[in-house]
Amino acid sequence: MNSAPAEQSIGRAQRGITAIFANSKGGVGKSTLALMMSLGLATRHPNAQVELIDLDSQATSSDSLRRFANRRFSVKNDDHLFLASGSPNNGNIINHIDSEPIGGNAQRYIVFDSPAGNEPSRSSFLCHCNIIFIPTSVSDADIFATRKYLTSLQQLFQRQRQAYENRQPVVIILPNLVDSRAEFNDIRHALADVQAFIGNPLYYSPLFRKAFREQDDDGNIKALLRDYDGYIKWLTKTFIECEQLNTNPQQLFQL
Ligand SMILES: Nc1ncnc2c1ncn2[C@@H]1O[C@H](COP(=O)(O)OP(=O)(O)O)[C@@H](O)[C@H]1O
Ligand SMILES: [Mg+2]
Repeated sequence: MNSAPAEQSIGRAQRGITAIFANSKGGVGKSTLALMMSLGLATRHPNAQVELIDLDSQATSSDSLRRFANRRFSVKNDDHLFLASGSPNNGNIINHIDSEPIGGNAQRYIVFDSPAGNEPSRSSFLCHCNIIFIPTSVSDADIFATRKYLTSLQQLFQRQRQAYENRQPVVIILPNLVDSRAEFNDIRHALADVQAFIGNPLYYSPLFRKAFREQDDDGNIKALLRDYDGYIKWLTKTFIECEQLNTNPQQLFQL
């Protein structure tokens, strides 16, 4: 039997791939990482069509990135992607993911930034993404929120598994605001039993504090892209090649 989502996803595979940065917690780096991902894709892949879609009504990342928008890099913060309650409008988001890209034949990458507090139970569009990145720091509050988010995500996958023929988005935890290798190990230890991958750590740096600030020469963004070239290379490659990570592991697996 060919269910609608399976047919749609065949089309989606040809057209492009979709990532989302999500966690129920704020301040873990969702917007920062969405910015690094979308600018990294746009600068490294000149023939690609990159869309950053901000699902946060506070619009941190879309406001600060709009000035970089051009033919190949678009920044959206569209009312029709939300409901009046602020929850995502799943139908409209899925239609957008499945829509024809404006740029014709270019490879299309969609990057969603999402607000804190978006519950997986109200976000069935998550199943339509290829990859879900979940940033977290080592703090007890963030680890707790991350575990809870992962549990709700698993429940969503279970509920949607027939519609999506058992295919799940790849789930990757991104340790952020990390101080030391020992702290990275603490995060791995605290999340050892979760069914997800864990990526490279992003260390704490004051450089990020200025990432969303508009500067005349864009010196802050240039410095970020330069100093974090290795991390951005890893992050964009992980997204582009996510089809190779076909199933989520039974317990935390280091990439
Ligand atoms: N690795 C990091 N080092 C230092 N500051 C960071 C780092 N990652 C994020 N930040 C800062 O932490 C704050 C929260 O990050 P943000 O990306 O807005 O989180 P979220 O979108 O999850 O709420 C911002 O001020 C950001 O600049
Ligand atoms: Mg944010």
